[in-house]
Amino acid sequence: MSLPATRPADDWWRSAVVYQVYPRSFADADGDGTGDLNGIRARLPYLAELGIDAIWISPWYPSPLLDGGYDVSDYRDINPEFGTLADADALIAEAHALGIRILIDLVPNHCSWEHPWFKAALAAGKGAPERDLFWFRDGKPGGLPPTNWPAAFGGGAWQQIDDGQWYLHLFDISQPDWNWDHPKVIEEFDAILRFWFDRGVDGFRIDVADSMAKDPALPDVVPQPNGEVTRDKYAGHPTYDQPGVHDIHRRWREIAEEYADSPLGPRVFVAEAWLSPADRLAQYVRPNELHSAFNFDALQCPWDAEALREVIDHTTENFWAVGAPATWVLSNHDTIRHRTRYGRDQKRASMPAGSVPTDLELGRRRARAAALLELALPGGAYIYQGDELGLPEVEDLPEEVLDDPVWERSGHTVRGRDGCRVPIPWSGAEPSFGFGTGGGQPWLPQPADWAELTAEAQTADPDSHLNLYKAALRIRRETEALGEGRLTWDGEAPAGVLSFTRSPGFRCVTNLSESPIPLPAHQQILLTSEPLLDDRLPSDATAWLAI
Ligand code: NOJ
Repeated sequence: MSLPATRPADDWWRSAVVYQVYPRSFADADGDGTGDLNGIRARLPYLAELGIDAIWISPWYPSPLLDGGYDVSDYRDINPEFGTLADADALIAEAHALGIRILIDLVPNHCSWEHPWFKAALAAGKGAPERDLFWFRDGKPGGLPPTNWPAAFGGGAWQQIDDGQWYLHLFDISQPDWNWDHPKVIEEFDAILRFWFDRGVDGFRIDVADSMAKDPALPDVVPQPNGEVTRDKYAGHPTYDQPGVHDIHRRWREIAEEYADSPLGPRVFVAEAWLSPADRLAQYVRPNELHSAFNFDALQCPWDAEALREVIDHTTENFWAVGAPATWVLSNHDTIRHRTRYGRDQKRASMPAGSVPTDLELGRRRARAAALLELALPGGAYIYQGDELGLPEVEDLPEEVLDDPVWERSGHTVRGRDGCRVPIPWSGAEPSFGFGTGGGQPWLPQPADWAELTAEAQTADPDSHLNLYKAALRIRRETEALGEGRLTWDGEAPAGVLSFTRSPGFRCVTNLSESPIPLPAHQQILLTSEPLLDDRLPSDATAWLAI
């Protein structure tokens, strides 16, 4: 195992900027239209130059890709479409040599229906012990499923099989839920963690970290007052935020700590849990549980000063109360890209792709302002691949290429998440914009006007989105005040303005109002997301100031 070029302190993750790679769409070294590990390896120098501390790679395991790889059929190997275990080893070693940590994705709530243990459970028949690893149940009289639980992608959460039994899938029918009450499941995941930690992986992002434990009595979900059964995660919900998830997390934390004396130090976790408000989420980052958790309240917050300040305060207060840093994120592979969200009517910002008019120029300005705000907040931050290029959501993908299970499961009413997963434009004037070798077309088509958004075009333009990110990450590294720590709001900021200081000597001001504002006191302007107008900070812009 190679070592990081510089070994940061064991708590590197408390301030880290982590770049999310969606492997299918990042870079395609073998030219088959799908991204791969050798593509990522080839782009490591780009990531090092961007200035991030770590990358998180979305699932890279063997999978039928019915949910983009979140349907895992073998947790100890690499999807042949993406490469081999040897490629993964090389990627880990090369990243470490550049000082970049590697996080991978653990999908513990469910596997793929192609996982050998699920196939064995189906074949073994009713009442067989193989079925106990999953949630097989008889239905209710009248041909009804065991409960009224909804699946995340539409329809019910139970699928009936030939012998009459039903199995649970909180997501797609191809993703059967593991039974975490079974010791074999618990031990299997212990072994999976060690398998990858031993290969030099620095940590895991935990998929749906709030869902593994289920209420064993299998009560129905309580419907809304209007009778509708929704995915609202109310307190006491039978499948979300059950107390048992914390036992699992504590167990994993112990395994991560077993590596404290290894050259890479203790390993780390980041929780994906769409749980609100932050006091609830903070339970996941107590000292002996997961290290960090994405803050989705900020991601979902409208571009509004008061609302953002409330989210920032509520998050930091609750996370600091348990000794954890906040983890900020603006976009990921499940959400409408934030350049597009911020260009919409903010009451409808997160509506499905293609359903709301968007002003992409407004979105571009706000995305730049938001990037500087995000990177100035206390704690860690995640960048989704393409955020640094200012990519918008692709809202007009032809129906025949849509791949997200949401499209099918919603009866072709919701287009799903493909619009944020379109392959990255690297260079050149036409698709595949350097994504693949040999001119082959990528698995999702790229818009022709992405020629001006390629990494190559933006490298050459000093005012580009990419160069703003590079400058911000360089300043963040060089500025003691940034990363983990505290913030102090400026008392006299005008309405619609977020202005705070970080000690020592740093001020961040974001103007979300409609008029330019004078810059607050400063010694030096470090960076602005837009040029100043007569020494004033324009609307939808952020300035970083030395004070
Ligand atoms: C969250 C992942 O981010 C998403 O892409 C996936 O569909 C679900 N979990 C199910 O694994």
